[in-house]
Parts: sequence; structure tokens; C-alpha cells
Amino acid sequence: MNTTLEQAKSNIISKGFLDVETPKEMDYVKEIEKLKKEKNAVILAHYYQEDAIQDIADFVGDSLALAIEAAKTDADIIVFAGVHFMAETAKILNPKKKVLLPDLKAGCSLSDSCPPADFKAFTDAHPDHKVVTYINCSAEIKTLSDVVCTSSNAVRIIESFPKDQKIIFAPDKNLGDYLNKQTGRDMLLWDGACMVHEAFSIEKLLDLHLDHPDAEIIAHPESPSHILKTAAYIGSTAGLLKYAKESKKEKFIVATEAGILHEMIKQVPDKILIPAPTGENNSCACSECAYMKLNTMKKLYTCMKHELPAVDVEPEMARKALLPIERMLELS
Ligand code: 13P
Ligand code: SF4
Repeated sequence: MNTTLEQAKSNIISKGFLDVETPKEMDYVKEIEKLKKEKNAVILAHYYQEDAIQDIADFVGDSLALAIEAAKTDADIIVFAGVHFMAETAKILNPKKKVLLPDLKAGCSLSDSCPPADFKAFTDAHPDHKVVTYINCSAEIKTLSDVVCTSSNAVRIIESFPKDQKIIFAPDKNLGDYLNKQTGRDMLLWDGACMVHEAFSIEKLLDLHLDHPDAEIIAHPESPSHILKTAAYIGSTAGLLKYAKESKKEKFIVATEAGILHEMIKQVPDKILIPAPTGENNSCACSECAYMKLNTMKKLYTCMKHELPAVDVEPEMARKALLPIERMLELS
């Protein structure tokens, strides 16, 4: 039995997306392009989105670039092809605009690893500490923060505090540990992590490197320290792309979510790119974010067509969460 639009709308909360039938032969690329123009909508996509979504997006970037783009867009509708905390950040920056997320269940294990009540108790127990949070956290966690950062600007944000300032860093312990080493600080770290970057296998990575001794390992700082120790370069998704382009090396083992390879292949078509291996024997032997991959072209089309699901942030929470995001943008 076909689901009616009304039934689909009432199921959004349980399903996460608007589950309506579309014609079998629908050309999503053509229809999405049409909707973009009709509705003055902009599609912002993260590098971890599936290839077709990256290709149809108006802007593809890392978390920082996407936040900057969201802050300056003059589109009426922002369609966020990424995960919930990213769309939420765009909504906080644009409270009057409609912000759509193709699948509301596109969450983030790292954000989930920092429950607000527990984090509030932690910050309350350390009142002399400033609170720096990685953008991969909920709006409620952002309200408890002095400043937000991304992997692109984290060193600069931390160094904006006096050397003797005590700092709590949350939620990513791996990024926090890396930043402590980079800045010579001793920040108190929240015990959170990204399951995608934690999934890399050091044994398989070292074996792969033995098979390709001419390759350089490049890694995202959400990876654990044993992976980062092997890396010739550590950086955000945008940083990894820049490095692959500028380096004289011809071969890279890339330790981050495999979606990055789509843009990397475009930017360095003549170089050899090998995804870093995970411990699991999954379909691509690489690390994929199941949350990011919840968004599909069909869900992108239906969310633009019916302008659902939209991401909303309660106004008082949005007002408080905006301050640390604005501080980050000023410092970036
Ligand atoms: P960046 O986009 O800052 O590199 O972060 C990667 C990530 O895990 C986003 O969820
Ligand atoms: Fe969250 Fe990790 Fe997925 Fe990024 S890759 S959205 S940090 S779970």
C-alpha cells in the first residue's frame, strides 16, 4: 500500500525522513536542480556524503567551511547534506531560515558521547576552566561552551587563551590529546570519540604500509594516537585535501571517512589514494560513517520538494549556543 503524504508526514519523527513514493524512473539530479531554483535553496554538503550528493551540492566543504558558508548564505532555504549537529549549527546561525536535513536520524557518535546533564556536572565541577567544544556536539553542549572549534581551527582557538588558562576540551578525546601535544597544554579531556575514526586497525594499516612503502599515511585528528603516530600529515578533511594536492608524493593511505576520496580523486586524479583499513571486513574495507550515509538522493529530493524534515532549535537555546559559534567564526 502506498503511503500518503499526510501519513508520511506523521511518520517523520519515527522514521527520520519523509518516506513518500517517487516515480521509478525519476531523474533526481534534474528535479533537485529545478527545486533549487524554484525555492532559492542552497545545498551544503560535507565531504563524507555519498558521491552524487557531493556532485549536486552548491558547496562541499569541511565542518568549518560549511559553518562559514551557512553564516553568509542569502538563500531562503538551507538544505544540509550532512549530520544533525551541522544542520543545527546552520539553524542557530540562521534562526529565520528554513534548514532542512534529508534524514533527521543522521546523528553522530561523537556528539552522542557527550550527554548534556553529565557534561554540565563536569563543567560545574571545574569552574576555573574555560570550555572549548568541538563543533561535533549538540546545541545544548554548545550552550555550556565558551568557544566552539573545528579540526581546521582548533589550534588557533586554543592558543587564543593565555598559556596558564585551564581548559576543558570536549567531546573528542583523540582530537583533544592531539591538541594537547600540538599546543603543549594539559587540557582536561572529555572521554568521547568518533566510531568511524576509532575503527581503523593499526595492524592492518602497518601491513598495508609495508606493501606500499612509497605511500604517505595522512590522517584526520579524530583518529586515535596510535594511528596518528604513523601519519606524515594530520589535518581536517580540507587539510587532507590540500596536503594531497601540494605534496610531491604520488601515493597516500588516507585515514578518515572514505567519502573524502571522491573529492580527493577529483583534485589529484593522477595520484594513488588508498583508504586506511578498518578492523572489520566491511563492504569497502574502509571506514564509512553510517550516519552520513543515511542521506540519499531520494531523501534529498523529497525533503526539498516538501520542505521536510526541518531542523529547529528552541530560541533560547539557539541564542545561548550562538555566542560560542560566533566567537569561533571571529577567531577563524
Ligand atoms: P572536519 O569536517 O572538520 O574535517 O570533521 C570531520 C568530521 O568528522 C565531521 O563529522
Ligand atoms: Fe560523527 Fe564520526 Fe560520523 Fe563525523 S564521521 S559525523 S564525527 S560519527
